[in-house]
Amino acid sequence: MLQKPKGTYDIYGDKTLEMLYFRKLAEVLMDKYNAKYFETPIFESSELFHRGVGETTDIVSKETYDFKDRGNRNLTLRPEGTAGIVRSFIENKLYAESLPLKIWYLGPMFRYERPQAGRYREFYQFGVEAFGSNDPIMDAEVIGIVVNLFKILGLKGVSVNINTLGDKESRENYRKALVKYFKPYLKDLCDDCQRRYEKNPLRILDCKIDSDNEIMKKAPKMIDYLNEISKKHFDKVKEYLDVMGIDYKVNSNIVRGLDYYTHTVFEVQADIKGFGAQNTLAAGGRYDHLVEFIGGPSVPGVGFALGLERLFLALQAENIDIKEKICPDVYIFGTDIEQKGNVLSLANDLRMAGFNVDIDYNGKSFKSNFKYADKIGAKYIIIIGEEEVKTRVLTIKNNITKEEYKIELDVVINFLDEKLGEEDED
Ligand code: HAM
Repeated sequence: MLQKPKGTYDIYGDKTLEMLYFRKLAEVLMDKYNAKYFETPIFESSELFHRGVGETTDIVSKETYDFKDRGNRNLTLRPEGTAGIVRSFIENKLYAESLPLKIWYLGPMFRYERPQAGRYREFYQFGVEAFGSNDPIMDAEVIGIVVNLFKILGLKGVSVNINTLGDKESRENYRKALVKYFKPYLKDLCDDCQRRYEKNPLRILDCKIDSDNEIMKKAPKMIDYLNEISKKHFDKVKEYLDVMGIDYKVNSNIVRGLDYYTHTVFEVQADIKGFGAQNTLAAGGRYDHLVEFIGGPSVPGVGFALGLERLFLALQAENIDIKEKICPDVYIFGTDIEQKGNVLSLANDLRMAGFNVDIDYNGKSFKSNFKYADKIGAKYIIIIGEEEVKTRVLTIKNNITKEEYKIELDVVINFLDEKLGEEDED
């Protein structure tokens, strides 16, 4: 039997309900921030991610799905959303329109990682990217979106961890300090860290293997290498988070696995008991040079992305059910196959009048039709026979209370409107 590729999953049943609920929630929340929805291609030129995310990052060096199309172009399935949004922002010259511009997206991303709970090869991210403000107020606003989202969902076991990587100058000073510090300990670090030392020493701090190592714990801290501008920026971010009543911790080990960050970086972790190792629900930060780096003008940006699978796991761990079942208002079937046309025509009229309608396509028996209506959760059942067609009076059955009504065909819509409206008010 053919099977789905490793690290992927199908969305159906309860998963569909969760996904659709989340999308609706995101739409409503994003309107509140005047953020605009974007969709960019699932694949982009490989160069975009190499340049954007960074050649030395794990994502680009080990995890991308790269392929050549039939025209010999080097393409990559997007491992994250930021680079594509930045490309679109530049290509569509959105920098020439009124800024700041807040953008949101929701879609599949692809990384060749070792699959485990909360880690997939195809996974969904909800993300926000805000362009055109280098003010720390935007950093706080973006962090606030994640916090508010969790609040709306009622998720409690989350903590916001923030750090700063400073501006270019501070980062360079810090890089030098790290190189000097790690040099005598190089042989004690893992192979990956030895490589990182050469290419991007900051990433050593992000190492999962060496994280408990004493050498790591005593490493210089970014906070001590910040210049005035960077310090001020970070202080303001914290001040604005305080103003919004957002709890956070400053965690100097957050350096992030992507190269594009400057100043603020943050991760929102699930602190739920028994939650797996993949506990970073959302992560992001500021990227003041990425737009320029990818070939656009100098426009600052800040954003985050949230992994939907991990969010759903966290909600499950806290017994929060977001599955909103959508059931048909009406199920219609005919007494015999002669009625199929009448069934179809009534269903069509009711759907166009705004009702959710399902019908019997297969000519099932009475018993099977009632069973099926129960299974799909139909609220009302309409049976059409010769008599109904002749008299133009329908028997409508409330499938929950089992009450029956005789209603003239011409006023069926009014009747259902009234009845279903009453139920909504209950
Ligand atoms: P990231 O930290 O690579 O950042 O990913 C963000 C979130 O995506 C993670 O915290 C996690 O919830 C989810 N995620 C990542 N990889 C996987 C996976 N293999 N399976 C399931 N979930 C996963 C970014 O992607 C940046 N683009 C965030 C950003 C936006 N920074 C600025 N703007």
